[in-house]
Amino acid sequence: MCPCLSPGLVSGSSFGQYGTKLEPHTIKYAIIIITLLGEMRLTSPKVEPAKVSDDLAIQTLNLTKIFNSLVAVDSIELNIKKGELFALLGPNGAGKTTTINMLCCLLKPTGGTAKIMGYDILKQPFKVKEIIGVSPQETAISERLNCWENLSLIGKIHGINAKELKIRSQQLLETMGLTERAKDQVRKFSGGMKRRLSIIMALVHSPEILFLDEPTLGLDPQARRAVWEYIVRFKGEKTILLTTHYMEEADFLADRIGIMDEGKIDALGTSTELKISILEKHTMIIYAWNLTQKVINEMRGRYKEVEVTDGTMIITDKKLDFKEIVDRLHSLGAIVRSAYIKEPTLEDVFLTITGKELRE
Ligand SMILES: Nc1ncnc2c1ncn2[C@@H]1O[C@H](COP(=O)(O)OP(=O)(O)OP(=O)(O)O)[C@@H](O)[C@H]1O
Ligand SMILES: [Mg+2]
Repeated sequence: MCPCLSPGLVSGSSFGQYGTKLEPHTIKYAIIIITLLGEMRLTSPKVEPAKVSDDLAIQTLNLTKIFNSLVAVDSIELNIKKGELFALLGPNGAGKTTTINMLCCLLKPTGGTAKIMGYDILKQPFKVKEIIGVSPQETAISERLNCWENLSLIGKIHGINAKELKIRSQQLLETMGLTERAKDQVRKFSGGMKRRLSIIMALVHSPEILFLDEPTLGLDPQARRAVWEYIVRFKGEKTILLTTHYMEEADFLADRIGIMDEGKIDALGTSTELKISILEKHTMIIYAWNLTQKVINEMRGRYKEVEVTDGTMIITDKKLDFKEIVDRLHSLGAIVRSAYIKEPTLEDVFLTITGKELRE
């Protein structure tokens, strides 16, 4: 057993009344962290800087994972720059968590490899584990411990001395808005607060790279937005790879987005680049009176797709001129009440690229 899990560790004053009773959840989390740390000695010296001259924090080279015959991650090639916030956006089963697990050295690739700050995940896993922090998809924090106690446990697992741990914990609790609730048992927290604590726990050993696997899963829109505001505070300071199946999350947070489906990265770019890539299709929505069959026929003869329902006309074509359409409708006798050109969303990008809805 790792010395950091010995009863002495948890019976100290910081765990007060909880004594040596570790919950299965706590043990699970400890095991994840220990797996992460591997055989790394808690007293190991600081990692020397990686010998890389480029500006890449994460580079995958044909990274592949096959479970029996299921290709979960299919030869992906990703280059994520230092300080970048990169979002892997994809539906359930796309391969996002499998990708993160391989990058964190929790899962061995079937093929290919990846470099984290220049360290190879296959050849230098211990170096990799020292410079990364992970907030897993299933938040693994101990419900019966408060923030300080959870952080004390994780800090000891990482071998951070008590003084340093206190300073870092104070800073992070402040940054993530949990100072006021730091002494409350986690079981009394909202989902969003638990997610924020999970992120703090991933950051407490000052990793260079932060992996956030579905950081807002299951939260309502308001709580999700609050978590985004906290994540933004680390933008630029840390390299962040997050996974999500919320398009708005990727849109709001990410410098670049990789659209992942069935183990492949189907498209890659900034939100704007991805939207521009599908701009060969524009849509105009018009609310009008007097949309007679004559008006509809005329418009159908002019534009590629024209749909009409209950006084709403939707025109889709490669090129749309707003004024020209409104003038034409007026000249045909329709009375336009309001109209707008619909901007493409990441949902449209996803649909165009994969042929399916993201929330399937
Ligand atoms: N340990 C495993 N054994 C067998 N198949 C697995 C295992 N882990 C994942 N898979 C399969 O690999 C595929 C990708 O799973 P993964 O968890 O990476 O998807 P995901 O994109 O993270 O999905 P979600 O949005 O639901 O979290 C799925 O088909 C899943 O069933
Ligand atoms: Mg997942």
